[in-house]
Amino acid sequence: MLSTRVLLTGANGLLGQAMVRRLGPDADYTVLATARDETPRFEKGLCRYTHLDVTQPSEVTAVVEDFGPHVVVNCAAMSDVAACDEHRSDAWAVNARAVKTLAKECRQTGTRLVQVSSDFVFNGKRGPYNETARPDPVNYYGRSKLAGENHLRESGRSNWALVRTVLLYGPARDLSRFNIVRWIIDQLSAGETLHMVDDQHRTPTHVDDLATGIEQLISREKTGIYHMSGPDLVSIYELACMVAEVFDLDASRIESVSSDFFEDEVERPSHTGFLLDKARAELDYDPRSLKNGLRDLKERRSHQTP
Ligand SMILES: NC(=O)c1ccc[n+]([C@@H]2O[C@H](COP(=O)([O-])OP(=O)(O)OC[C@H]3O[C@@H](n4cnc5c(N)ncnc54)[C@H](OP(=O)(O)O)[C@@H]3O)[C@@H](O)[C@H]2O)c1
Repeated sequence: MLSTRVLLTGANGLLGQAMVRRLGPDADYTVLATARDETPRFEKGLCRYTHLDVTQPSEVTAVVEDFGPHVVVNCAAMSDVAACDEHRSDAWAVNARAVKTLAKECRQTGTRLVQVSSDFVFNGKRGPYNETARPDPVNYYGRSKLAGENHLRESGRSNWALVRTVLLYGPARDLSRFNIVRWIIDQLSAGETLHMVDDQHRTPTHVDDLATGIEQLISREKTGIYHMSGPDLVSIYELACMVAEVFDLDASRIESVSSDFFEDEVERPSHTGFLLDKARAELDYDPRSLKNGLRDLKERRSHQTP
């Protein structure tokens, strides 16, 4: 049987690397992983790799014409909330305008586009959210991601899927950006005291569960919006306590605070998280519990070479 040709963008990020691990060795897929760097940060030999900056339309056209994908999975993003607020034009270029470029290219070539978005398109007043909830972002990252979603919707045909997710954690190499679970582990291991907010709630997502969900979306040729996250709704404080418990770290160093404690922080939605009924019913999406996800991370970290 003919394999499905998948072009991955942003393949050196947390989700991009998980997609490479999931699809790269699978004979049903021929994968071209791309990112801004000249060389991949993930394990070599899993799939082909080439440079692609998604904010450059000529590069997008050249790579799509050369590879001829059936599906593009766009994992490229500026996903750091504070960085998006500080570097707004860069955030808009990758989170919004590049999606327009990809959607146009996919429309012209008859390619399916899977776009990844965020719980931060919601205002956090009525979470957990299902796919019909109305977006209303409270910060620039959320606004730029929503603009990307809108470019997808406006691209004029329904050969796309939009996957929203929540607070990703999981194994990855050489990530360029902050990841909260890794940060909690590193800070507690160094004996630091942490102030963690107890008034922001999320459903943290093991990145391999998301990659499996996206694979199912591709293989079942689904279109439309899907919410994919972990199953457990916790505050950021509770998340830190669970990390401490699983990684045998000192939870007494974690202090619960409200969001007001961080006066200069960019506003974040208070209560997000997702309802997963649609993904469970249509994709057999079955994410692991937060505790099992953290145990998996611990297990895999213990097998990593330093
Ligand atoms: N992480 C989360 O907690 C979270 C939560 C909800 C939704 N999401 C969404 O999930 C998706 C994946 O996020 P992630 O956690 O994997 O983010 P990530 O680790 O920051 O990865 C994003 C990747 O995109 C790359 N990128 C940035 N600009 C690019 C460009 N112009 N051309 C090509 N690649 C570019 C980055 O490259 P550099 O390394 O060179 O910067 C980075 O490797 C994003 O759409 C994000 O908005 C993430």
